[in-house]
Amino acid sequence: MALAEFLASLDSLAQAARTDFANATDPAVLETARVAYLGAKAGKLRDAQKGLGTMPPADKPAAGKRFNEVKVAIESAFVAAQERLTSGKTATFQAFDVTLPGRAKRLGHLHPITQTIRSMKEIMGRLGFSAVEGPEIEDEWHNFEALNIPLIHPARDPLDNFYLSVAHASTNGDTVGEPTSPTPLLLRSQTSTVQIRVMETTPPPVRIISLGRVYRPDTADATHYPMFHQIEGLLVDRGVTMADLKSVLRLFCQSYFGGDDEVHIRFRPSFFPFTEPSVEVDMNWQGGWMEMGGAGMVDPNVLRAVGYDPDEVTGFAFGLGVERVCMRQHGITDIRALYQNDVRFLEQF
Ligand code: FA5
Repeated sequence: MALAEFLASLDSLAQAARTDFANATDPAVLETARVAYLGAKAGKLRDAQKGLGTMPPADKPAAGKRFNEVKVAIESAFVAAQERLTSGKTATFQAFDVTLPGRAKRLGHLHPITQTIRSMKEIMGRLGFSAVEGPEIEDEWHNFEALNIPLIHPARDPLDNFYLSVAHASTNGDTVGEPTSPTPLLLRSQTSTVQIRVMETTPPPVRIISLGRVYRPDTADATHYPMFHQIEGLLVDRGVTMADLKSVLRLFCQSYFGGDDEVHIRFRPSFFPFTEPSVEVDMNWQGGWMEMGGAGMVDPNVLRAVGYDPDEVTGFAFGLGVERVCMRQHGITDIRALYQNDVRFLEQF
């Protein structure tokens, strides 16, 4: 066989093998093609090798070189086809429609109570009240005694409070109570504790609010929950009166509920050991009245307990339930809905 003819037959063989391997759609077809080209006994490459033996000696080097190149090319084409079939890339590829709209990510938002707290801070800030914080684990001095609540007062009943079983605890690294005289600790039952903490360390005038969680072993119902939030307000200065208290609360409510003319508050005479006189603060809601909080003029005994002179300064204080304000704003009729973590409910606000 002439050299040119032999080389051309090798090139056609390589081309045919590449095509057959590339077209093999499953391993069985590929195996048949492999045997046809690379089979040791009757493969086409084997036949070509036989033809190589018949070449004139002068043409053998060129013919042998091309034979080896074609052999490598055919083997590589087989390996590539084998990988293609076993990797499964072709089999699992699925077309997709690039023109379909994307899926919007669900973004979370602030819990309605957090929104209420932020809004309250903002409104009271505009009225000149700065926000301060106090610990949720308290001692009896700040939760009761300094607030004029003596040991025999029913509010101190262990069954009406969450006392801790440890004598000492640490909140954010600050030890609560005197280390040398262990004192009973409890989860604070009211934010009025912060009034004491502020007045103990700040000379008058004082104009603060404090917002945070408080805890009481109340049975949960539509308007009560064992953990809830209060906003405490305290203003102490010369010549502060009940009229100032009512003005501030009215301004606060009007701002919070967006200048709604239908928002009314009323004071009902009441009693708190740390204010005198004391009132309950109600707000109109759903054709009736809902108790929002307590308030009054800071009792002279409290002023004396923190080292203030009641003949020099007077003050008012109030403590409102944050949940109740939030409920009135959104028309929520059951406080428990705020804490059931049902996203379908919460994402409405
Ligand atoms: C107090 O806690 C007083 N410290 C308020 C105060 C502050 C009076 C300053 C005078 C001066 P009272 O126990 O009434 O008061 O609670 C105040 C408000 O907290 C209630 O009117 C109500 O809105 C809310 N509240 C009380 N208990 C619960 C509860 N279990 N769940 C939800 N809200 C509650």
